[in-house]
Order: sequence, then structure tokens, then C-alpha cells
Amino acid sequence: MSKPKLFSTHVLYDQPRRLLAEHFDVEYWTENARPSRDEVLKRVVGKDALVCLLTEKVDAGLLDAAGPDLRIVANVAVGFDNIDVPACTARKIAASNTPGVLDETTADFTWTLLTAVARRLVEADRLARSGGWLQWNFDLLCGTDIWGKTLGIIGLGRIGRAVARRALGFRMRVIYNSTRRAPVEIERELNAEYVTQDQLLQQADFVSLHVPLNQQTRGLIGPAEFAKMKRTAFLINTTRGPVVQEAALVEALDQGKIAGAALDVFEREPLISDGLRRDNVVLAPHLGSASVETRTKMAMIAAENAVALFTGRPMPSILNPEVLK
Ligand code: GLV
Repeated sequence: MSKPKLFSTHVLYDQPRRLLAEHFDVEYWTENARPSRDEVLKRVVGKDALVCLLTEKVDAGLLDAAGPDLRIVANVAVGFDNIDVPACTARKIAASNTPGVLDETTADFTWTLLTAVARRLVEADRLARSGGWLQWNFDLLCGTDIWGKTLGIIGLGRIGRAVARRALGFRMRVIYNSTRRAPVEIERELNAEYVTQDQLLQQADFVSLHVPLNQQTRGLIGPAEFAKMKRTAFLINTTRGPVVQEAALVEALDQGKIAGAALDVFEREPLISDGLRRDNVVLAPHLGSASVETRTKMAMIAAENAVALFTGRPMPSILNPEVLK
């Protein structure tokens, strides 16, 4: 019997590739550059399964181009703002993401960015490698302390909690705002105090964003929010770019309304506003979960989701379980 056909928009790693090969006739996008929309539309035709990355916009047009055999869209990411889940559900197509395996890695990277911007690591590296460092000096590249400061976390989900846990070692005060207040045992374990979003913006020395991108959070941080922040505060964003109004961020930096920012995500990736290319902003090209270990786990979950659906076993994660009924 012939195997179901799967298109994967990336070659992934050996381990998920081996698993997929056992169950599917797999076609991979093998080029280093991401496939264009037209390429994806072409390759997806007649497929039973699609494994995709956050760079692919999976909307009604793509689902219809695939045709009636498509049964699953397995995103290799926890964020799924690139997938029109209701459009999948309407066509009885399962949609899945990769929750739970990237929280610690993304929290590590949040702290990488936070410490880099506070202690001016990127400026320091640039100076050291340029040969421009001529003598030790008392006030050379002095940054700002992290320890003992206030960390404000917006969105205390799995990643927000992993970020908060790391703050314990820095002996910080941790405040948070979230759509739902965390259970009291979690607040106690993390030594985290629930505050309103306004209180958080007014009190935090570091504001770190950990909400998913959706209709409620798009543009969450704009001019009014920057106006509430301390002039000495830093914004850290490792979730999705459109949670922050990038033009308002540039204006806040221009006007010194905040001290700086560390950004892993942008409104129109891979474009980065010119106004963000400044010494007090650390920039990264969307690397939050980018460790080999974690990317392997993410790809495995996507592969396992596809295999489970086609072998009638429970999927490790599904965004629209109603399609299985
Ligand atoms: C990465 O940004 C993810 O959502 O997994």
C-alpha cells in the first residue's frame, strides 16, 4: 500500500526525518532559502500532510490549493499565528504546534538578551574586536545592574515562568501581569507578584514580553505604554514582533522614553526598522528556541503529530481537537 504524501518545508534533522520516512512518502524543501508562497502552493498540491515553519502563512488559500486529501498542518513552532486554525477546522484538517519543549531554551535566550543589553555586551564585543580598545578605563562601557532590580513579565505562561525562575538567581523583584493570575503556589515558587499592566510598566526596570500574538495582544505595547515606562527601563521581546508597535518603539528610543531594548522578533521579519539599529538596542534574528537539542525536539513533536494522526494514536499536541471527533 502506498504511504500518505507529506510535504515538509524544511529538511529538519535526521531523527524526525527517520520517523517521517517510516510512515510517509516525504518531499522536502531542500534549499537553504525559505520557499516562496508560490513554491509552497505548488508543492502542497495533493499532499496528505504538511510540516511547516512559522515563515509559512497557512491560510484558506493554501489549504484549498492542497486539495481535499490534506489532513494535518504540523507547525514546527509553539506560536501559531501563521496558521488560520478556524480555516483548518472548517476543512477538518488538524493543526498542531510544539508546546512544552522550548520554554527553557527560550527563557535562556531572553536572559541572554536581557544581560547583553544591560551590560552593553554587543558594544563591548564590537570595541574589543575592532582594535579600538586602547586602555582600561574607569567609566568604559558602564551598563546597568540587573541583580536587585525589578523584572516585569507580561504573560506568565510556560515561557514567562521559566524566565521568572531564572530571576531568582539574580535576586530580583519579579512582578507580572497575565490574562489569568497564576496559582498561588506558582507565585510563591517564583516569588512573583501579580500587578496591573500599568503598575508593571511604571515599576519594572526590565519589561519582558511572553504573550502569544493574537487579536488581543497585537500592538499591546504602543505609545501609551512606553509613556508609562521608566526612562531607565529596557524592553525585551522574544515572543512575536507585532505585539510591539515598532514605530512607537523607535519613537520611544529616539525621545529617550526608555533606556534601550533587546529584540529577537520584529513586526515584518526579516526587515528591521532602521531606527532600531542603535547602540542601546540588541538585535537577534528570531533565535529564541534555536538550540540543536530544542529544535530537534520541536521537529520530533511535529513529526509525531503527523504520524499519530495517520496511525490513529493520540497526537502529542493539537490546536483543534474537535476535528478528530
Ligand atoms: C518560535 O518563535 C516559536 O513560536 O516556536
